[in-house]
This record gives sequence, C-alpha cells and structure tokens, in this order.
Amino acid sequence: MEPYWQRYANSRFLDGISALHLSPLHVPKLASINQRLKPFTGFEAKAVSGYVPAFVFFDCLRNRQFPTTVTIRRADQLDYLPEPDIFHDVAGHVPMHTDREFADTLVHFGECAHRAAELAASIRDKRKRAAILTSVIKAMARFFWFTIEFGLMKDRGGLRAYGSGLLSSHGELEHALDSPKVQRSPIQLEWVIHQGFAIDHYQPLLFVVDSFDHLYGLVQQLERWMKEGRLNEVAPGEPTVKEADLMSFLARDDHAKRPHRVR
Ligand SMILES: [Fe+2]
Repeated sequence: MEPYWQRYANSRFLDGISALHLSPLHVPKLASINQRLKPFTGFEAKAVSGYVPAFVFFDCLRNRQFPTTVTIRRADQLDYLPEPDIFHDVAGHVPMHTDREFADTLVHFGECAHRAAELAASIRDKRKRAAILTSVIKAMARFFWFTIEFGLMKDRGGLRAYGSGLLSSHGELEHALDSPKVQRSPIQLEWVIHQGFAIDHYQPLLFVVDSFDHLYGLVQQLERWMKEGRLNEVAPGEPTVKEADLMSFLARDDHAKRPHRVR
C-alpha cells in the first residue's frame, strides 16, 4: 500500500502512519498501537470480533474508543472485502485517530448518536418512533460512509483521500482519485443524507471537504438538522437499517450504564 498512500493519502494520515510506527511486514498488536496512539488524542483501538450494533459503535467513538476488528482477510481478498477486518481498521482508520480535529469529529459524531436516541425516546407512538429513528440512523450512516469511510479532502495542492474504505484498498484508492468515471463533488449535507450507496463495487460518487475543521462543522450541522427534524424522512434506499441497530438506539440507557465491552 505504501506507494499508493504516498501518492493519494492526505498528509495527516501519512503523519499518523509514521507516528504509530506501523510496519508493512506484520500484523501489529493493538496494545502496542494504543501505547503510541493514546498520547495524541486519547483514542484507543478496542478489539472486537464481529458485528457491533450502530449505537454501541457510535457510543464507543464518543468515549474515544474505536471498535477494531481482529479478524484478517484471506490472501485472495487483499484489495477488497465488504466487511471490516484488521487491515481495514488498523491501516485504514487508526492512523487518522492521531489527528486532534479528526478525533474530535468522531467524538462529536458519537454525541449525535446520543441526540438521536434522546429524540427517539421522546416520541410516544411506537411506529412513528421506529420510522423516524430508522430515517435518522440512515442519514447518520450515509454521512459516515461519505466522509469517514470514503471522504476526499483538499490537501497537498490537490485532492487526497482521508476515508478509510479508500485508504485500505489500493485499487479503489487509485480509482477514486484518478478515474474519470468518478464524480467528485464539494460536500453538501443535503445531498449526502439523501444519497444511497452500494458497498459491492467501487464508488462512483465521492464528496470533498476543505479541511477537518470543515468536517467538524458538518457534524455540528448534522446534529442541528436532527434536532430540527430534517433527518426524519430521508430518501429511501441503502443502507438498510437492521433491527439490531434500531434496538441498540432504543436500549441506549442499558449501553450507557454498562462498561464498554463490545464483542
Ligand atoms: Fe470502516
């Protein structure tokens, strides 16, 4: 991946890779990554072995913990795998967590999830509550997808990737920045929350932020829109909100009381 990162990754990611001393030759131990990572932003990688429901995932971010998959892909899946694995999580996400503005953005995103759970708890009618919460989770998932997973930013005199889905696939990283088939648009929140996506092929549409300060401002705007009810009826389409995700938001108090032990 290294030559691809040098060419296509944003400079904060490259700084993160060298600050964490990540070796391209072996799978690192999370404890040694955390020892280096924590002094930068307080973030730590927390081992999980499978699916983490949406609220639990976002709540971990709020607590500066990143649920990190400890399974690894097979050799024939080196370029792309639909589910996260340790390569996607450690090589794609974790280096970004050394950056203070980016880390604060994740924390604020976790706070948004709490706002969503509070909003849902205030709706008495069960069906209405489920419909609104499904829409809000869909909007949040789309935002996360088009920024944290597949975001581009202006950097080093051009466009560079900061999204982890791009940074953990050399094929898609090159495609995202060089292919004429990709539409790269300045980010617009209204577009992002209504825009579906498919996870099984290279992304044809990507959004560009000016800086992580800009990204942080967008999460604040997302939270404001949530409070104003502007996420209550987003366009149908991907991603599907699973029952377990919905329930995780409705059982928020249980999660908040429990120590953060995700599988
Ligand atoms: Fe990811």
